[in-house]
Amino acid sequence: MGSNIKKIAVLTSGGDSPGMNAAIRSVVRTCAFVEVECMGIYRGYEGMIEGDFIPLNARSVNNIINKGGTFLKSARCPEFRTKEGRKMAYDQLKLAGIDALVVIGGDGSLTGAEILHGEYNMPFIGIPGTIDNDIFGTRYTLGFDTACNTVVEAIDKIRDTASSHHRLFFVEVMGRDVGHIALNAGIGGGAEEILIPEEDLGLDRLLDSLKRSKARGKSSSIVVVAEGDRTTGKNVYELKDYVEKNLPVYDVRVCVLGHMQRGGAPSCFDRVLASRMGVIAVEALLESKTNLMVGIRDNDIILTPVKEAIQGKSKMDKELIRVSDIMTL
Ligand code: ADP
Ligand code: F6P
Repeated sequence: MGSNIKKIAVLTSGGDSPGMNAAIRSVVRTCAFVEVECMGIYRGYEGMIEGDFIPLNARSVNNIINKGGTFLKSARCPEFRTKEGRKMAYDQLKLAGIDALVVIGGDGSLTGAEILHGEYNMPFIGIPGTIDNDIFGTRYTLGFDTACNTVVEAIDKIRDTASSHHRLFFVEVMGRDVGHIALNAGIGGGAEEILIPEEDLGLDRLLDSLKRSKARGKSSSIVVVAEGDRTTGKNVYELKDYVEKNLPVYDVRVCVLGHMQRGGAPSCFDRVLASRMGVIAVEALLESKTNLMVGIRDNDIILTPVKEAIQGKSKMDKELIRVSDIMTL
């Protein structure tokens, strides 16, 4: 391909997510395939500012497709938010002869790349990596599927105790501002109710539903709560107190799943998605495309302007909400 781009650097930034390693591998192997040099940048924008780079070839990424986290490490870097920080980063990129970037991360990381491009014209393509699935322009972000599988596995285990002791569990799952993990893993784990920021269930309906369950002789109850849910005005511990006060018949426990949801081997879905996204990211750069984010829609890999991806809001699947309402009867 007659492109001016001879050296591409790849970095992972923001919160890690399963599938990031698979995406790095894909970028590196695609570069090798098209005979373009590839560099890895350690620790996201922090490593960019410090010039912490490593040359990568097809063999550098052996045996990482199955690993969670990111071998390039990740960081949140306040210095990159400043003009001075970005100038230092750009100087390091130039010094290393880097012509373009593949940025794997969430909307914050993509915003950083967009600003760097605005100031220094550094071409880049973004790959959405976050378990939250909260990025506009893609049906799925890297790591979301794995996180949902992890949560379902955890709910299955919690259910053993819930049913053995006739208990009610509030299970808090990740999702800083959104309920995608809660809704999907809640349906997959057979939750009684699912509390997400996008739908105001209301405390009355929660109590009614729990009363109904008791009346029907259900031996266990799992209520999945997205960490970002503020619709009830209560966190999981306050919900426990509220239910125990209003429905003393329930013996309630709380389980906050936390960072165990972010780790672990990526699912097959995330590995395939990462592999597909990495190929398109490199090919897009070589076609002189920039400021785009790779995404998936209807099983097609698509490109969306990063500006739109940052400004847009990922949509909650209304059909899934309907299904979950029926399942909780
Ligand atoms: P994520 O990419 O997962 O959304 P963050 O929001 O923490 O995570 O962003 C990751 C990094 O991207 C930040 O630590 C910072 O270095 C960079 N970044 C985020 N927002 C901006 C911004 N407005 N300007 C410059 N850099 C930014
Ligand atoms: O964005 C991914 C995410 O795991 C959110 O679900 C969670 O709210 C947040 O990151 C936690 O961030 P940290 O690891 O910095 O505490």
